[in-house]
Parts: sequence; C-alpha cells; structure tokens
Amino acid sequence: KTPAPAPAPSQGGGTSTPAPQVKEYIVGTDAAYAPFESENDKKEIVGFDIELLTAVAEKGGFKVKFVNTPWEGIFTSLKNGDRDILISAITITEERKKEMDFSEPYFEAKQLIAVPKDSKIAKFEDLKGKKVGVQTGTTGDDVVSKLLGKDSKDIKRFESTPLALKEMVNGGVEAVVADNGVVINYVKNNSDKGFKTVEDASFEKEFYGIAVKKGNKEVLDKINAGLKKVKEDGTYQKIYDKYFGK
Ligand code: ARG
Repeated sequence: KTPAPAPAPSQGGGTSTPAPQVKEYIVGTDAAYAPFESENDKKEIVGFDIELLTAVAEKGGFKVKFVNTPWEGIFTSLKNGDRDILISAITITEERKKEMDFSEPYFEAKQLIAVPKDSKIAKFEDLKGKKVGVQTGTTGDDVVSKLLGKDSKDIKRFESTPLALKEMVNGGVEAVVADNGVVINYVKNNSDKGFKTVEDASFEKEFYGIAVKKGNKEVLDKINAGLKKVKEDGTYQKIYDKYFGK
C-alpha cells in the first residue's frame, strides 16, 4: 500500500494575504570576548550578547544571523553594509555616536585591571612605567592611552583581548585593562594562571549598545522595541542571571 502523499505546503494564503515579511539581518560580533560572545567547541557563536539579541529579534519581529567579525574591521563592516547590526559589548561613546547609531543601553560595564597575583600594582596610576596590554581601539585602549600617552611604547596593543591576556601569561605585559565582565570571567576560568583583578575609582561607567548604520531607523526601531519587551517580560533578567547571576 502506498502512503498518502504529504500535503502540499501552504503557499502563504494565495492572493489575498501575503505572508508578513520577516527580514533577516546580518549581525557582526567579535567572538573572542567571553562571556559576551565567543566560539564554542563546535564553532558556534555563543554568549550573553548572542542570546540577548536573539530574544530581541524574536520580540522585535526580525531574524538575525551572527557572523564572527574581527574587532579591527567591525565598524567598517557596518559602514559599508557588510553587516546590518553589531553586538559586541560595544561601549556607547560620543565619538562612536558620530559614526553609527546605538540602541538604548543594554548593559553597564567598567574597566578592570588584570595583573599577576604577586603584582604590586594596586591602582590605575601604578601602571605608569609598566607594560600594559589592551585590545586595539577599545575603551580599555582609550583609558590606558590617556594615562601613559597614546604613543607610549609601554602600551602593547593586541587584536583581541584573549591575546593580551595570553601575553601576560608569557610575561610580555604586566597588566591588561579590559571590560570588567571579560576580565572577571577570564580570571575565574584560568585560576591556574594566577591572576587577580584591580579596580580603580577613576574608571567611569560604560554602557553597551547595539549598533546600526547611521540613519538606519528601520532596524534601530525594531531593536529598541524588542529590547523594551525583553526587559519588561523578564527575558533579559533570565539571560542576565544565566551569565552573571551567582
Ligand atoms: N567595551 C569595549 C569597547 O567598546 C570593548 C569591546 C570589545 N568587544 C569585543 N567583542 N571584542 O571598546
């Protein structure tokens, strides 16, 4: 007996009601910044930012496709249209606001210093005269450039934050300055390497935003609408607790 043929797929209502268009946007993220974005063993991009934007898209009525995009070229990829959206623990700054538009802030952060456990560095000022690792073009780079001078030979710039931290294991830098969430995560997950963290009251509050090309109001409105919903309905809190809860 031959099985009945499978029903023909619905054609979306024929002439009268066209299916609503759900657009898919290409999202750039520098997936070397755990716990915000990183690649797992299966080369999948995972993390707080990924889960958040996925939820935001669901509520905002759009689809997202994440593409690993090195920090170095991330802002250019938005400008030239290779990426529609960026989520990459990006701090909203006045300078960047001239180049792109940001969503409402979705996360509060601050710089934090990582040093070897036996280091005498106890405050930001103590970095003067020391070799300091930063990720090029980040807010960590900004604060250290201000303290040591932009052209100081003591600033060692790396294309990713993990590379800077690795260099501290090798002894090539005496401290690394990066976002607190990332530094805490690294120190916690690499207890064998013997690092500790040093806070400093001079570090200002930073806020992460999701970026779109300047003037791309269509996408920005959808992001902000979705973000509002996930904050209101508890989804944001759930994702936050998964990554940053006790
Ligand atoms: N929040 C910092 C900044 O905006 C660092 C972000 C780095 N993000 C990353 N995925 N590598 O400059």
